[in-house]
Amino acid sequence: MKKPSLPTALLAAACLSSFSAPALAQDQVNIICSVQAEWCNLIQTVYGKTTGVKVNMSLKGSGEALAQLIAERANPKTDIWFGGTGDPHLQAAEQGLSLEYKSASLPQLHEWAQAQAAQSNYRTVGIYSGPLGFGYNPELLAKKKLAAPKSWADLLKPEFKGEIQVANPASSGTAYTMVATLVQMMGEDKAFEYMKALHKNIQTYTRSGTGPIKAVARGEASVSISFVHDGPGEKLQGFPVETITPAEGTGAEIGSMSIIKGARHLEAAKKFYEWALTAQAQQFGAAARQFQLPSNKAAKIDPNVPDFKKIKFIKYDYAKYGASAERRRLISKWEKDVNSLPR
Ligand code: F6P
Repeated sequence: MKKPSLPTALLAAACLSSFSAPALAQDQVNIICSVQAEWCNLIQTVYGKTTGVKVNMSLKGSGEALAQLIAERANPKTDIWFGGTGDPHLQAAEQGLSLEYKSASLPQLHEWAQAQAAQSNYRTVGIYSGPLGFGYNPELLAKKKLAAPKSWADLLKPEFKGEIQVANPASSGTAYTMVATLVQMMGEDKAFEYMKALHKNIQTYTRSGTGPIKAVARGEASVSISFVHDGPGEKLQGFPVETITPAEGTGAEIGSMSIIKGARHLEAAKKFYEWALTAQAQQFGAAARQFQLPSNKAAKIDPNVPDFKKIKFIKYDYAKYGASAERRRLISKWEKDVNSLPR
């Protein structure tokens, strides 16, 4: 049989694609992604290739993502919010921005991930967890003849003046986890006294929670306050960076996922949500060199994931510190009492 000439073949392909276009237009999902770009991009490619669904991905830190969802409340453009610390997801739930959805896969998740779902009336769910701690650059510290910090108290030492980076709690869930952790550990007054003293040693408050550990890895600061699961990825790229959790104890995030109320692609959103809760999908985090603890009990745990059994955790009250009024109050107090002070 004679092969069709190239223009004929192109025309046939064009006809086919124009017939399938309406179906494809339904087949898309708009995601705000609040983990690091490599993981977001991997999900976009893998999910897109295996399902044929077009994944439109927008990358935003936890606080910024919540601000966008509030702004588009009357006319939501987002279907799914994937990742980011749990507290702004709880606020989204409280403010009616996310949809109640009870996945049949919930029993496959760790208890902390199910608890996150239950306390939001099933408007969000835990997809990973990770402990707050410090990152440090051992080469830079050695050059400056400084010992690595082991405790929250160590960060106040005068020799760390201008050496520490942490994010701004208004834009970053990581930094808000720090504020909430310190308040729970020390009581509010002492925690704010502590943060005022820490302020003197801060070089920069970054927008994103992962900014500080990247700066440390690249020798721009000696110490960061970061989620410790963000360290190994930098180290695997060859940067000198280590992590430690503070001796006095620390908090952890419950990274979460929510379906947005009024999602235009609701069926596609539900399918993506179910996929993201599977053990198989949760392994793409480690594949993208991000080492949070997956929420699906059957997900393989990469050796770079922090060992939770070795860490001293506080009993973090996720409901209280995830409540909108409390978060707003603590952040504005931090702006007024801490961030406005000279350094
Ligand atoms: O993607 C890395 C990560 O540390 C997540 O584990 C966390 O949910 C997120 O960043 C928080 O980002 P941010 O502090 O910018 O809101």
